[in-house]
Amino acid sequence: MRSTRWKAASRAAIALAGAGALAASMALFATAPASAGTTLGASAAEKGRYFGTAVAGFKLSDSAYTTILNREFNMVTAENEMKMNATEPQQGQFSYGAADQIVNHARSRGMSVRGHTLAWHSQQPGWMESMSGSALRQAMLNHVTQVATHFRGQVVAWDVVNEAFADGSSGGRRDSNLQRTGNDWIEAAFRAARAADPGAKLCYNDYNTDNWTHAKTQGVYNMVRDFKARGVPIDCVGFQSHFNNESPYVSNYRTTLSSFAALGVDVQITELDIQGASASTYRSVVEDCLAVARCNGITVWGIRDSDSWRASQTPLLFNSNGSKKPAYDAVLAALNNGTTPTDPPTDPPTDPPTDPPTTPPPGPGGCTATVSVNQWTGGFVANVRVTAGSSALSGWTVTIALPSGATVTNAWSANRSGNTGTTNWTNVAYNGQVGAGQSTEYGFQANGTAGSLSPTCSAR
Ligand code: XIL
Repeated sequence: MRSTRWKAASRAAIALAGAGALAASMALFATAPASAGTTLGASAAEKGRYFGTAVAGFKLSDSAYTTILNREFNMVTAENEMKMNATEPQQGQFSYGAADQIVNHARSRGMSVRGHTLAWHSQQPGWMESMSGSALRQAMLNHVTQVATHFRGQVVAWDVVNEAFADGSSGGRRDSNLQRTGNDWIEAAFRAARAADPGAKLCYNDYNTDNWTHAKTQGVYNMVRDFKARGVPIDCVGFQSHFNNESPYVSNYRTTLSSFAALGVDVQITELDIQGASASTYRSVVEDCLAVARCNGITVWGIRDSDSWRASQTPLLFNSNGSKKPAYDAVLAALNNGTTPTDPPTDPPTDPPTDPPTTPPPGPGGCTATVSVNQWTGGFVANVRVTAGSSALSGWTVTIALPSGATVTNAWSANRSGNTGTTNWTNVAYNGQVGAGQSTEYGFQANGTAGSLSPTCSAR
C-alpha cells in the first residue's frame, strides 16, 4: 500500500521497531487502537500519513529551530536550496552543497525528503532566464536529468514542474520562457525525471488550485487527466495551499483533493500556511486530507511565524518564540481523532477497472460506454469509458443525453458536438484505435445536475 511507505519512513515507526519485542508482547493484550501521538509526525504516521515542513538550510545552526524540526516533523522540503538557481548557478556547473546538507540532516534522523523543484518559471539562474527555444528546452531537460540523478534514492517525491498554470479565468498555461518552448514541455520534464529517478513519485505542484470551481484548478485537473490517459509518468499532484484573505480556504477543498485522487494520482498538501492561522481552518485542512485515502501527507511552509515567507501574516503553527499556537493543538487533535478511510467511491484503483459484470458484452465490431460522475452542488465531472467489442475499433462515437439544466463547459480527450440535450462525442487522434476488448477514456465537466446518464457507443 502506498500509505505504508510514508508510515515506514517515519521516526515513529523506527522507534516502534526499536521497541519491537515489547511492542510485540503488548500487542497480544492490546485491544484499543494505537495510542494518540504527541507530535505532528508521529500522529500523522499513525494515520499512514507524513507531516512535513519547509526547511531553510541556513537555520540548521539555530538550535531552537532544529529542536522543533527534529521533534515534530517526518518530512522535509528544502525551501530554496533545490531550485534551479541554487543547483545550477552556471550552465553545466551543478552545486548541491546546501541541498545535501538539508537532505543529510533529514535522512540521518529518519525524516523523508520531498524534492522541490526541477522546472519552474521562477527562481531560474540568470543564464537560463535569458534562454529560449530549443536551447532552453535542452537545458531544462538536462537540468531535470542531472538533479534528479544526483538525488536518486534520497527523495520520495519530486515537484517536477511548479506553477505552470495561469491565474484568472483562462484555465490555461502561464506564459513563460519554458512554456514558449512548446506546450509539451511539462510532459517532457516528467519523462526525463522518471528516467533519472524511477523510484521517486513525480508530482505537478501549484497554488490557487484548492477551489474546485476555479478555472485554474480545472485546467490542472484536465492536464493530469490527459497525462494519465496518455501514459505520461505522473504520480501525484501537490497543492501548495497558501491560504490568505485573497485566496481563502473553501469547503470544496475536499472535493478538489478527492477528484484529483480519482484520476489515479496521489495528492499532497505541499506548502500549507494560513493567514492568521485559524485553528478551525487548520483543523479542516487536516480533516480533508484524512478523508481522502490518497492524500499522503501535509507539509507546512516553515516552522515558526518568523520563518515564514509571509511572516507578517503569522500563518504557521509555532510562534516566533517557538511555542505552540492554538492551530498546532487543532492540527494534532485532528490527526489523532481522524479515522483512516477506506477508499472513497470516487477513488478508483490505479489500474483501469474491468467492465462491471452488469455491462452487456458488446457485439462484434461494436463498443460500449460507461460513465462515472463526480457531482457537486451546481456541477459535475463525467469520466466516460469506451470499450471495444470483439473487434478492434478505428474510431468511435458516444451519445449522451443530458438532463435539462446541464451544460457542458469543457471536455478532454474527445471531440464534442452539442453542450446541452443530446451530446455526441467522437475520438481524438490518439484514442480512436482501441484493441478488441480494450478501453479508452474521455471526460467532460458540466454545470447542473447529471442525474443518471446512459451513454451509448457505436464504431465509426
Ligand atoms: C518561496 C520561499 O519561501 C522564499 O524564501 C523565496 O524567497 C521565494 O520562494 N511557491 C513555491 C515556493 O513553490 O518555492 C515558494 O517559496 C513559495 C511559493
